[in-house]
Amino acid sequence: MELFDVYPLMDVTIARGKGCTVWDTEGQEYLDLYGGHAVISVGHCHPHYVEAITGQLQKLGFYSNSVQNSLQKELARRLGKVCGYDDYSLFLINSGAEANENALKLASFYNGRTRVLSLEKAFHGRTSLAVEATNNPKIIAPINANGHVTYLPLNDIRAWEQEIEKGDVCACILECIQGVGGIRMVEAGFLQALRKLCDEHNTVLICDEIQCGYGRSGKFFAHQHLGVKPDIITVAKGICNGFPMGAVLISPKFTPVYGQLGTTFGGNHLACAGALAVLDIIESERLVENAAEVGEYLIQTIRDAQLPHVVEVRGRGLMIGIELDIPYKEPRQRLVCEQHCFTGCSGTNVLRLLPPLCLTKAEADSFVERLKAVL
Ligand SMILES: Cc1ncc(COP(=O)(O)O)c(C=O)c1O
Repeated sequence: MELFDVYPLMDVTIARGKGCTVWDTEGQEYLDLYGGHAVISVGHCHPHYVEAITGQLQKLGFYSNSVQNSLQKELARRLGKVCGYDDYSLFLINSGAEANENALKLASFYNGRTRVLSLEKAFHGRTSLAVEATNNPKIIAPINANGHVTYLPLNDIRAWEQEIEKGDVCACILECIQGVGGIRMVEAGFLQALRKLCDEHNTVLICDEIQCGYGRSGKFFAHQHLGVKPDIITVAKGICNGFPMGAVLISPKFTPVYGQLGTTFGGNHLACAGALAVLDIIESERLVENAAEVGEYLIQTIRDAQLPHVVEVRGRGLMIGIELDIPYKEPRQRLVCEQHCFTGCSGTNVLRLLPPLCLTKAEADSFVERLKAVL
């Protein structure tokens, strides 16, 4: 059997990693400013994380959600405390799309409605409702185009108000820093006004923190820079540093109903052990604070370098977009092949930086030198 060929692959095979560094099968070292697409939060192969997952595997790899799982309860307790939402409840699944799928289902069960508002350039995943809320017709199959979603402009509260006032909007879903959309940021005034409108019209406010959350923005959640509490928060990626896991954080205004949501693999013992280790490391190594400090330093260093082709540097913490006046394709390729450095990208002209949250200032400086060399 061949692989179903849907990924345009770079000609590199990564064999091992440590911190913000990975090595290919030839032994070549690379600086990782991509984190496997914002997934590596506490660094590659952190010893505490490796020990937690391997230790758990030696005890019990999996049992179903039909029995008590103390690791899930411990994760809910710890996560609630670390992120500041200890009065919310936790539902565990396996991916970001699944988190958004369940968030939208929950919103619809709650108010009985079916219309969703989403941002232009939004990305929320590739499954049925999540992909419908994604503003990219190329990945919405006819079977997913069910007319539930209206895409609206960023920070244009009038446009959102006009729709919400119709009284039929089930949920508004948004990333407070758009990732795939090109590191575009929701403004505080907009989100605060949106929160008020949602309250007035019984519409559910969902923040997708799958890419911008879990410490990446320099606060635990990106929306925490904006002074608003959503009704539902979705997370994935960094929650388990590469082991598949997603989660929905649910406000006390939702009442759980037996059987309404469910999953076979979600919240399994290995994922919970990994996620608890991730929280240990985030706290003990102060990685949220590190993301804030090193992120600000990196943004300023790139700006100060006044590199050719750089039009704008934007972002928060370690979620940074470098907009170029040329397509990113060649510089990004040369960063990998000549400078041995991975970066992400958005649209046609934006290099997107999503390193592990343990990036040091020395690694940030090294990245800027490599970028200078290719630009
Ligand atoms: C903001 C956002 N939401 C949802 C998803 C989907 O997550 P997953 O690929 O784990 O389904 C992604 C993935 O890139 C994302 O960036």
